[in-house]
Amino acid sequence: MSPGTGSLEKPLAGKRILVTGAGSGIGRIAARLFRERGAELVLVGRRLAALQETMPEAHHSALDHADEAAVAAFASECPPLDGMFLAAGELRTGSVQGTPTVDFEAMLAANLRGPWLLAHYLGPRLREGASVVLVGSNIALRAIPDSAAYSVAKAGVHMLARVLALEWAARRIRCNAIAPGPIHTGMLDERLAASSNPSADLASLAGVNPLRRLGTEAEVAALAAYLLGDESAWTTGTVIPIDGGADAAY
Ligand SMILES: NC(=O)c1ccc[n+]([C@@H]2O[C@H](COP(=O)([O-])OP(=O)(O)OC[C@H]3O[C@@H](n4cnc5c(N)ncnc54)[C@H](OP(=O)(O)O)[C@@H]3O)[C@@H](O)[C@H]2O)c1
Repeated sequence: MSPGTGSLEKPLAGKRILVTGAGSGIGRIAARLFRERGAELVLVGRRLAALQETMPEAHHSALDHADEAAVAAFASECPPLDGMFLAAGELRTGSVQGTPTVDFEAMLAANLRGPWLLAHYLGPRLREGASVVLVGSNIALRAIPDSAAYSVAKAGVHMLARVLALEWAARRIRCNAIAPGPIHTGMLDERLAASSNPSADLASLAGVNPLRRLGTEAEVAALAAYLLGDESAWTTGTVIPIDGGADAAY
């Protein structure tokens, strides 16, 4: 594996890329796109069967990314990497006043402790020229009142990307975060299932951005693929909204 061997059709050829949250949603679609573009994949999530369904031929590792011992053990066996797309995360809604501390801590673990541990333990496994993409959220750029713990954790993810960009620059390793708006995955379905009026909520989520629709997993995956590839070699330390223009509008 060596960076810089990709072609126009296979810009990720020669790169070994780790994807977390690869058993569903954005992570699953992204893993499949990275493979189409030539990458070799290491897939991480808690459910082995879901990872195998995403891509039977990939290397799979079933672990909780917030479990330090599990991440450390995985890192000690993980082969060298040319990229990481850290898409694993979880959403629990609630205000600061209404969120039990246990849920606040669960949001920090699922969304911030996981990427922190993976960066901490896998940083030494990254080859020179590697690229890391963290998944934040557009509701960590602009506040909404009902997802407080999640938003706070994702804001930490955005800053983690900037700090890692500085720490790793001397090794020519890049790190960026992307901040998606609403994408119709299982995560969004769970949020809608808790609503008293799911169709009105769905319409209102889609109506927030100037393009007036939800995003797709494929659109998020395409941005991640660009950031993981050598075409984006001068892009690091950024947080890029992908939200139909919502960040510009409200
Ligand atoms: N959908 C949206 O509207 C939206 C908007 C902005 C940002 N995001 C972010 O995009 C990312 C992907 O979300 P999605 O929409 O694709 O939702 P999803 O389908 O629910 O995917 C989340 C994935 O994360 C994995 N995961 C959760 N906790 C984990 C843990 N502790 N350790 C390891 N893996 C864990 C889950 O797999 P297992 O259960 O098998 O572990 C699951 O495959 C998340 O970080 C999310 O916060 C989503």
